[in-house]
Amino acid sequence: MIHYKSLPILFVFIMLIIACQGTYSSKENNTSQEAYFLDSTLFSGQIDGEDATLYTLKNKQGMIVALTNFGARIVSIIVKDKKGINTDVVLGFNKVEDYNNEEEPYFGSVIGPFGNRISKGKMLIDNKEYNLSINNDPHTLHGGVEGLHFQVWKTKFFNQDSVVFSCELPDGKEGFPGNRKFQVKYSLNENNELEIGYKAISDIKTVFNLTNHAYFNLNGEGSGTILDHHLTIFADYFTPVDESLIPIGEIQDVKDTPFDFRKSKRIGRDIEITNSQLEFGKGYDHNFVLNGTRLGAFNYACRLVGNKSGIIMDVLTEEPGLQFYSGNFMSDKVILKNGSSDSYRTGLCLETQHFPDSPNHPSFPNTVYKPNQTYTTKSVYKFSTE
Ligand code: GLA
Repeated sequence: MIHYKSLPILFVFIMLIIACQGTYSSKENNTSQEAYFLDSTLFSGQIDGEDATLYTLKNKQGMIVALTNFGARIVSIIVKDKKGINTDVVLGFNKVEDYNNEEEPYFGSVIGPFGNRISKGKMLIDNKEYNLSINNDPHTLHGGVEGLHFQVWKTKFFNQDSVVFSCELPDGKEGFPGNRKFQVKYSLNENNELEIGYKAISDIKTVFNLTNHAYFNLNGEGSGTILDHHLTIFADYFTPVDESLIPIGEIQDVKDTPFDFRKSKRIGRDIEITNSQLEFGKGYDHNFVLNGTRLGAFNYACRLVGNKSGIIMDVLTEEPGLQFYSGNFMSDKVILKNGSSDSYRTGLCLETQHFPDSPNHPSFPNTVYKPNQTYTTKSVYKFSTE
């Protein structure tokens, strides 16, 4: 029984709870989650005996990009939302060792030597069969167990606008041929454009297909799912997959399918429609064939808009494809920078690339490189507000 004298205290207590919830929900509904600023000391240390460091690029507009040489990863991209609130639009961790996680290894990282899947870990180059490491049973995913995401890269250059990372992989690593050298340059300019320039070279004929696997949430970490973001993809076609997410080799028209993002669409609008492709991917996990819509020197790949923040991200690329992955395998396995967990569909990836399993599809754009032939490609993530 509650004594009548304690009723006023109880009343004040209940009012306090209501007031706190009000503050919280109005923040949730109207604005982004304010950015968490990283403690760089938690990014200095050794991974596999090599030194890891945090590098920060800044421009005069107040945009900040934080990167680590472990996996040549994007740790944070902080931009202002439509109300001027600093918002970190990339999901990740607040200390470097958390990235060394086999369960969720790809947060923010460069992916290679070959992005996405190679069927059953087998490919032929000049009639020689290569057996690659199988890390996504029965396939090879994102370069195998110890792809570029788990390498501690060397830092070749760093200033306020750019950082250059390099690394080498020996012949046979994860089954891929060639002693290979890789270089990735991140540059930030005053137009709020983050450009990623990739280069690679090998001494033996090999395959290259590099990308970045940043998980974006343009409303910020802890703001809920990405289903209310709006997405436009400049692609009339996509490459349908089998139930194990290997392309079946066809190029399918997006018209009258849930894959039609040619006009801005809420990501959640069609994601639960009964469709075998969505079933196989558990949502969107598909390669779009870019139309080649020109924007300056690049293909305009897509535009993503955060519904709460009003933050716009345009993706430009020299690549022919874009993998749109709607975070379908995210399942509360890890704790992120600001204390939220990586819940289902709270982030998405927009990976500029050549098509998955290209080495086994001669009709797809070529991914085979001759000895000493330089692989080079660039993509840009450009930020603005509505
Ligand atoms: C890519 C793949 C997905 C999944 C994620 C990471 O986007 O296509 O199937 O592997 O990476 O979980």
